[in-house]
Amino acid sequence: MATTKVVLGCQWGDEGKGKVVDRLAADVELVVRFQGGANAGHTVKVGDQTFVMHLMPTGILREGVKSLLGPGVVLDPWKLVEEIEQLTAQGVPAEERLLVAGGAHLVMPYHRRLEELRERDLKKKSIGTTGRGIGPCYEDKMARMGLRASDLARNDDSLRRLVIEKVLRANRLLAERHEAPPLASEAIADEVLGCAARLRPLIVNAFDFLAPVREGKMTCLLEGAQGTLLDVDHGTFPYVTSSSTAIGGALTGTGLSHRVIGHVLGVFKAYSTRVGNGPYPTELHGDEGEDLRAKGKEFGATTGRPRRCGWFDGPAARYAAQVNGLDAVVITKLDVLSGIETLRIAVAYELEGEGRRESFTNWAEQLERCRPVYEDFPGWEEDISGMTSFDQLPRNAKQYLEALEAQIGVPVRSVTHGPARDHWLERK
Ligand code: IMP
Repeated sequence: MATTKVVLGCQWGDEGKGKVVDRLAADVELVVRFQGGANAGHTVKVGDQTFVMHLMPTGILREGVKSLLGPGVVLDPWKLVEEIEQLTAQGVPAEERLLVAGGAHLVMPYHRRLEELRERDLKKKSIGTTGRGIGPCYEDKMARMGLRASDLARNDDSLRRLVIEKVLRANRLLAERHEAPPLASEAIADEVLGCAARLRPLIVNAFDFLAPVREGKMTCLLEGAQGTLLDVDHGTFPYVTSSSTAIGGALTGTGLSHRVIGHVLGVFKAYSTRVGNGPYPTELHGDEGEDLRAKGKEFGATTGRPRRCGWFDGPAARYAAQVNGLDAVVITKLDVLSGIETLRIAVAYELEGEGRRESFTNWAEQLERCRPVYEDFPGWEEDISGMTSFDQLPRNAKQYLEALEAQIGVPVRSVTHGPARDHWLERK
């Protein structure tokens, strides 16, 4: 029987996947991250310790669980070494638990530089990226020009030559496209050699390493980053990230087949947020948005940017549920909504000039012209964060969850109601 679980963010990222993966990781032997890079920000609170991770699979916090950065990930070797060191300092033996797929591409300093300059040139039309070099790195992958983790396993001379060749190529692009000064190829090569010495023992061939998963001998969880509405194919292009955040990425980013997947779990926040630019029909402006941001502490874990905040978007949620073929849903941060008198859920859109539409559109220009049609629900006053069972939730909170479930069209299995590991209510 296929037992591999997949955890996917189903909005614009920051749904609280880290907490969900951390919990589910307790029951598996392996966690594989399958896309994205250090643009992600997973915050997990364990006891009085807070772990903020960007690249690392969240499974890394669990003793006895291995974590793999899959071939679909783009990894910044400097950041990876930094995160390993930070986790080690916090008492997590990351180096003993982590493995890196040879096929994962390397984010280099020129990727960050090229991205910074491009975003600057785009001015008002910029994507509002995290500035981590993710897009240019995936471009090099698709152009078949990139460096991969397997290159770190070469001998030092060969690696040095390769890195210098790539930096010199990037320097030509920097000059031609942006009239920008060159980066120091020798110095970058020296640093890459330093990272390679550290990371070499972690690099594996993902196909071989994942054999026990294929054979049903190893329990495994596939961890997504960002969210479905940021998927390069299915999100609100061009305001997306450069990888496949939806279910397809779980396959292409690991090399596992659909046959191993037994359960797809979608994570939705009880309201919505978005970082960066792009259409967002249920966005709240002014005081309402500010209040939600303050209550939900909605500031980017990677960039510190204030997140745009708004009501739950039903059409967008249905779209994500269907694109991903979700089996079940976790609703996060329900506690943030306590004390709001009236809660709103968008159930449809009014598309300028074309009338009502029930379904989402990922055409950015069209979504820009969609106004939400809301249904209102009475809120609740109680602080729910101390509650220990689903049954204790106020009637209005249950009613709100049922309304979310009706919009998504997939059963809500669990609810989170605070940052700690045990802020988790299982619905019977
Ligand atoms: P990039 O992934 O840095 O290229 O950024 C592209 C878009 O995705 C921008 O709008 C970012 O704000 C957004 N983004 C990337 N990673 C995350 C994330 O982990 N959470 C929320 N938004 C993200």
